[in-house]
Amino acid sequence: MVNKTHPIRRICCIGAGYVGGPTMAMIAKQCPDIDVRVVDINEHRIAQWNSDTLPIYEPGLTEIVQQCRGKNLTFTTAVEESIRNADMVFISVNTPTKTFGVGAGRAANLEFVEKCARQIADVSEGHKIVVEKSTLPVRTAEAVKRILSNSNNNATFDVLSNPEFLAEGTAIEDLLDPDRVLIGGESPDAIQALVDVYARWVPRERLLTTNLWSSELSKLTANAFLAQRVSSINAISALCEATEADVDEVAAAIGSDSRIGPKFLKASVGFGGSCFQKDILNLVYLCEYFGLPEVAEYWEQVVKMNDFQKKRFVTRMVRTMFNTVSDKKIAIWGFAFKKDTNDTRESASIYVCRDLLLEKARLCIYDPRVGEQQIRQELEYVFAEADGELSDSKRRLIHDHVTVAVSCEEAAEQAHAVALLTEWDEFAKLDFAKVLDSMKKPAFLFDGRNKLKNLDLAKKGFEYYGIGF
Ligand code: UDX
Ligand code: ADP
Repeated sequence: MVNKTHPIRRICCIGAGYVGGPTMAMIAKQCPDIDVRVVDINEHRIAQWNSDTLPIYEPGLTEIVQQCRGKNLTFTTAVEESIRNADMVFISVNTPTKTFGVGAGRAANLEFVEKCARQIADVSEGHKIVVEKSTLPVRTAEAVKRILSNSNNNATFDVLSNPEFLAEGTAIEDLLDPDRVLIGGESPDAIQALVDVYARWVPRERLLTTNLWSSELSKLTANAFLAQRVSSINAISALCEATEADVDEVAAAIGSDSRIGPKFLKASVGFGGSCFQKDILNLVYLCEYFGLPEVAEYWEQVVKMNDFQKKRFVTRMVRTMFNTVSDKKIAIWGFAFKKDTNDTRESASIYVCRDLLLEKARLCIYDPRVGEQQIRQELEYVFAEADGELSDSKRRLIHDHVTVAVSCEEAAEQAHAVALLTEWDEFAKLDFAKVLDSMKKPAFLFDGRNKLKNLDLAKKGFEYYGIGF
């Protein structure tokens, strides 16, 4: 039984992914007296968490896992037993956009969340606090509560919403020093129990408590606002390219207004990641559901602008390269959706590669953290998604037109062009004279992140194009 006099001793987190893994590692590090168990149905993933090579790349994560694993941090496939023994259960499973049925392409697929709730209801005894960590549409807690109320063993539950705001690549910093931790719920005791966990390392004034629905909606809104900033500056980047303006100068000028602020104004080839698009589409679906088509349309435009930015990048490449890239070798530098992560979900690279392949370009892809199998899988998936299934011709297209390199230099060898799509720091440290030497001339370099803008590559012999200037 959990109440004020019985602090949390055992936590179970369902889902050992990009959110569950790092978050639980941080809780284990900060709370040595709490036993933290991270469970997943994916045996391979759990084996990786128990090995020297973790399934996700995140600076600083390995050290924390090594410090706590085998002490108070366990990764296991023993889902039921871990749920049964826990005082507090986090649900941190994936909630992808639905690809079928009602709300396809917009609504979140809550199948995995519902399965978790049913499993918790089936195996629990006594009282437990269930915490929604995955990003969920507003009022999901209601469904979770109803499922939990049909427990097998007369167990009782409090449901909290505790959305995660960490960004990949900086997850450890974000978890260690969050701007805020949001806890939504109805039961003051349950809220207090979770506040007490975070209060071990997060200053009290940054622990915000709200009602359940505000907490759920705040997560979608935060991501929608962040993505909106990127789409806004990207929209301006198109105008900059048509005029003599420079988008980075515009961003610096507007960002120095303290009401606007300088962050999240970096024009790019387009935002990616598992959250932004999914959460906005989710928001759009909710607005439509609640009879607010104008609000839905307003937010949908953020995603449309992002799609336009990715398409625009490819169009500019093709136009610049004499209107054809057919049979030309193009080096793709970067496949992850941002630097310092091996995550490729919704990466702009996938869509740029797809459109270049449709133009019959030959791609040679390099990413420091993403391997060949993952790259091929993403490309097969994006073609399969468009056509309903992966046709033989698309399978052949990928097979015949994609190679994967082990370095930037190898990818650029004899290439007509380089497309830099992820802002990995190592890309700015190359010997560009050597790269130029190995490429066909004119040597085109399309910088989708303005990462090499200050290196004067035009003066060094490249045909250099960035975003928004
Ligand atoms: C985001 C939110 O930041 C985080 O709070 C939430 O918990 C999950 O979603 P994440 O997707 O990990 O985090 O990465 P983020 O740093 O937000 O970047 C998202 C995308 O936007 C990336 O593709 C990034 O390259 C792009 N981006 C970001 C820009 O193109 N320009 C910017 O100025 C900022
Ligand atoms: P996120 O980025 O939200 O963390 P991930 O896809 O990286 O998402 O991780 C979610 C994890 O949840 C996956 O490893 C998946 O296997 C796991 N998972 C999904 N459903 C269940 C379930 N019912 N029980 C246990 N684990 C689950």
